[in-house]
Parts: sequence; structure tokens; C-alpha cells
Amino acid sequence: MNEKKEVGEKAVDYVKEGMIVGLGTGSTVFYTISKLGKLVQQGFSIKGIPTSKQTEKLAIDVGIPLVSLNEIDHIDLAIDGADEVNRDLDLIKGGGGALLREKIIAKAAKTFIVVTDSHKNVDTLGTFPLPIEVVPFGYEMTIKYIRELGGNPKLREKDGNPFLTDNGNYIIDSSFQEIKHPNELEKNLNLIPGVVDNGLFIGLADAVITIIDKKLVTNVRRLI
Ligand code: A5P
Repeated sequence: MNEKKEVGEKAVDYVKEGMIVGLGTGSTVFYTISKLGKLVQQGFSIKGIPTSKQTEKLAIDVGIPLVSLNEIDHIDLAIDGADEVNRDLDLIKGGGGALLREKIIAKAAKTFIVVTDSHKNVDTLGTFPLPIEVVPFGYEMTIKYIRELGGNPKLREKDGNPFLTDNGNYIIDSSFQEIKHPNELEKNLNLIPGVVDNGLFIGLADAVITIIDKKLVTNVRRLI
């Protein structure tokens, strides 16, 4: 069973004709975007807003017409993956480095649906190192403040250089072991000068489509 394909394609059931759809980033939502592309080829009319350059390219390749956030006043539905999900449907995101645009789009969407394979379900967030987007200026100082909040921060690298986000920033991956108060940590991290945003998505997901005991399950916070 390809869990990512199953949950990714299931999310397409919630996309209706004429919608403006936020398109997430990663290997799970890849299946959502690919299936949407096939529907568009058959005449289904939607507009997409990508959460990353990687997704922008994929959406163009599969033929989904795109709009930018500044051209529209709402997003009907956003669909995205996650790195961890707890029972309250709070998330850690940003494993792919796209957390900032993902959060902007999730927040702007009337409905936000998350698609995850079974490995992403946890009791307590924090085993997956939390991605934090920071401006390059003074990032060592920013790391120091993240450590003071109980994290074990490390600069993300790619090919021996700092990994750069689509916004030209760095990512600090910080393990916190167990994040007992995610709401508090999300806010405290964002109070650090130099932090642009972090991968805690609290109270944003309306539903999570996942696999539990080999069965497809949709966990709902709000009516979708
Ligand atoms: C991208 O920055 C992340 O937030 C992804 O949504 C997350 O890493 C999930 O990716 P996969 O679907 O590839 O596991």
C-alpha cells in the first residue's frame, strides 16, 4: 500500500469546481497535485497557489493554472503534508523548508486539509526537529536564543552551504524532545528577533487525512 498516494489522492475529493486551491509541498501532496492536474486536463476548472518554487514547477508541469496571493482575496481550500501530527491536529511542518509560505497559505485558506502517512502520527510533537526560518543576519545570535528556549538548534546545510529557503532565509532545525506546550513555543520562538516563523502549525488544520491501522481515516476538527 502506498500510503502517501492514498491520502494524497483522497484529498482531491474536497476540491470543487471553481475553487482557488493552496498547493502544499512534499512527497505526499505530490499525489494530490498530480491527480488535480489530470482532472484539469479533462476540463475541471480550478486555480492553484503554490507554497514553494518546487510546487510551482510541478503545478505548471501538470497543467494547473496558477494565481498569486496578491491577486486574490481568499483561498477556498489548502492541502499540504506535515512532518508530525498530534491528536489535537497540531502539526510540525517545514521538513522541506517551505514552512513560511505554507503557513501564510494555510492561514489564508477557508479550509486547510493535511495529508499524512501513518508514520507522522504522534502523541506529543517534538521528535522531529522543529524547522525554524531565520534571517541570515546574526543567525548565530538567533541560534543562542533558540537554545535558551530548550532547543538543540542546528543550521540546515545543503552541499556544505547553508540551505536557503525560497525567501532567501536560513532554516534552523531544533529538536525539543517533547513539545508539551506547542502553542506557547510557537509564540515564544516568533518573539526572537531574527526568527521569521517556525514550523509549529497550531489550530490551523481543519482535517487530517491519514492512515491508522492500515485504514484511511479523516480526523476532523471543524466541519469541512
Ligand atoms: C515542506 O516544507 C513540509 O512542511 C512538508 O509539508 C512536509 O515535510 C511533508 O512532506 P512529505 O509529504 O514529503 O512527507
